[in-house]
Amino acid sequence: MKNHNNLSDIGVIGLGVMGKNLALNIADNGYRVSAFDVDSPKINALVTQAHNESPQLDPHRILGCLDIKQLLASLDKPRVIVLSVPAGDPVDGVCAALMAAGIETDDIVIDTGNSLWTDTIARELSYQGQFIFFSSAVSGGEVGARFGPSLMPSGDPRAWARVAPIWRAIAAKVDNHTGLPIERFEPGVPVTEGEPCTTYIGPSGAGHYVKMVHNGIEYADMQLICEAYHVLSDGLGMSAAEVGAVFAKWAQGQLNSYLMEISADILQQADPLTDKPLVEMILDTAGQKGTGLWTAVSSLHLGCPAPTIAEAVYARAVSTQKTLRSQLNGRLQGVSPSAMSDDERAALVDILEDAIYCAKVCCYAQGFQLMAMTAAEQGWQLDFAAIAKIWRAGCIIRATFLQSIVSAYQTDEQLEHLLLAETFATRLSNKQPQWRQAVSTAVLRGIPVPCISSALAYYDSYRAKTLPANLLQAQRDYFGAHTFARIDSDPQQKFHLDWSGDRSLKSVP
Ligand code: 6PG
Repeated sequence: MKNHNNLSDIGVIGLGVMGKNLALNIADNGYRVSAFDVDSPKINALVTQAHNESPQLDPHRILGCLDIKQLLASLDKPRVIVLSVPAGDPVDGVCAALMAAGIETDDIVIDTGNSLWTDTIARELSYQGQFIFFSSAVSGGEVGARFGPSLMPSGDPRAWARVAPIWRAIAAKVDNHTGLPIERFEPGVPVTEGEPCTTYIGPSGAGHYVKMVHNGIEYADMQLICEAYHVLSDGLGMSAAEVGAVFAKWAQGQLNSYLMEISADILQQADPLTDKPLVEMILDTAGQKGTGLWTAVSSLHLGCPAPTIAEAVYARAVSTQKTLRSQLNGRLQGVSPSAMSDDERAALVDILEDAIYCAKVCCYAQGFQLMAMTAAEQGWQLDFAAIAKIWRAGCIIRATFLQSIVSAYQTDEQLEHLLLAETFATRLSNKQPQWRQAVSTAVLRGIPVPCISSALAYYDSYRAKTLPANLLQAQRDYFGAHTFARIDSDPQQKFHLDWSGDRSLKSVP
């Protein structure tokens, strides 16, 4: 217990998987928690779990509350209340209930859900004067919330000053020397050493924007692994377990990541009902809650290319059109791929590893450019090295590769684009022949690789000396007199050719 009265240090409202585990994590770190959920069995389940997991700890460290009024009365002031409810209307529903129950001006409400960042900005404004609406997106799923998530707080700095000690305590930790996560999943024994994966991101909305981009990268990262699985299984005829073994090996090298590790594990899992590989018994239609879509939409609004993230969203959309896919499966012709020698097969595994690495760098480059452009638009001062640091442990996209991003931004704080960083420019330049070979092999064998190939097009678009936008400008001028700039004049100076008349060139004021 951190305060010296009998009051709780923090309240948690919403005891689904994430809220319950955050409450247990906070309590493990010595804070006294008051908890409430509209579904009262969840309150009892939390209190029972806390007792059963660590009977040696203070049995009163988690207080189950019957209603929001009791929760408010049980908290030390100014109160800190964590919301773990679905994004959207439920957040405002709980805020309304808190106001009705007497929440005060200095009290802090922290939205930990995946809320749309613009909603967060609007909420901070609309609740001003009633209480402080703060936000802190959480990444890491069930286990992260329980034993150490990555936390992306933003909003009123006064609220952060109060919340920071708790957040640093419950966040995932990174070993200061190795840059690797410190993982200890033991109830009642929190990780107290290492660098916490949380940092104040910026003003209201910034944290949710950064989390949204994290999820956009997550979508692309997952899809890249899925495309590698598709190439290895359909292209090389590998069994799920064999692909799992390849992924387990990749997870030890340049492609080390939590997502690669879990994919290796998933592919080794047998279906308890049929004993076939479980993955082959799962219907190939992907779900989504919307954060990847928001990232793609944001990129379109900003004019900030994030094709690999957008392709990952489309790949999920295509997968859901199962009936249409079945019809077209019988109608559209593909190819009959030629046989590959054992040497060619082994070589493909290696070139695919490099291709995935290159495409992954492009996903992150897209995500970081999105954050940079939105920060410039919103007037946020984002610290990209710090953001990459807090993604090194706890969150879903954690990977050793993030350390290279940290170094890139530490070397050059003003780095405009990740592909300009020496490390990434050199690595991608060296590996691009393999990347091209992986894409062409997949294409020639009729295997869709939208993320691996769109990332390559992204790379080639940025490195190309010229793009065919000159012809595009001429087309626009031809049918709509939209004018064009010339390579031998000031780019601000516009010209129009009289395409339907005497084809004379006019300078347009
Ligand atoms: C995380 C995850 C988490 C959640 C996503 C999944 O960082 O912990 O991103 O937020 O798993 O909402 O999103 P989809 O359901 O859209 O795949």
